Amino acid sequence: MTDILRFLQNRNSASKLTEPAPSGAQMQEIFRAALRVPDHAWLRPWRFITITGERRQAFGALLEQCLLQRKPDADESARTKAHNAPLRAPLLVVVVARLSEHPKVPAIEQRLSAGCAAQAILLASEASGYAGIWRTGDAAFDRCVMNGLGLQADEEIIGFLYIGTRDGATKSIPERNTVDFVSHW
Ligand SMILES: Cc1cc2nc3c(=O)[nH]c(=O)nc-3n(C[C@H](O)[C@H](O)[C@H](O)COP(=O)(O)O)c2cc1C
Repeated sequence: MTDILRFLQNRNSASKLTEPAPSGAQMQEIFRAALRVPDHAWLRPWRFITITGERRQAFGALLEQCLLQRKPDADESARTKAHNAPLRAPLLVVVVARLSEHPKVPAIEQRLSAGCAAQAILLASEASGYAGIWRTGDAAFDRCVMNGLGLQADEEIIGFLYIGTRDGATKSIPERNTVDFVSHW
């Protein structure tokens, strides 16, 4: 078995992340993996926004402000949770799907391609010695958040990737059997 196959079979997410994040040069290499995902008609229906350092606080303020728009009665703990969410990792990548009309490529295929890009970023981060987790939640589907991040009307958030160094032990990989998921037709 190749090392790459074993790597793919053992990938897992890290919910607790700390410094350091990949360097700027490493992130360029990681993004190059995202640019090689399957992409029907080569629409390149994705783009990526990084948020690091103090900008995470600004993003937290945006998340809290949008939470209050969605739920004006949000309590203090929900507000604090939204405000501090971006501080859970040293680097965030917002994966954006850029949807366009195409006679052969419906929006679902463009969203799936952006999802592949998200996974490629997670895998490439792990392959570079880091870790990450894909999160969404109500904020990912909120136009207020999208507007604050500068998304256009034809753009959507596919996920917030939290990336950094795994804090704590690697989770155990759940035992799953291929027969439960694979059949022969
Ligand atoms: C589209 C998508 C959205 C997700 N959103 C969240 C989320 O908001 N919060 C969360 O804790 N996990 C979320 N997850 C799950 C984690 O990314 C992760 O897959 C899960 O914790 C299982 O860990 P594992 O990837 O190591 O198996 C999401 C996964 C996907 C594919």
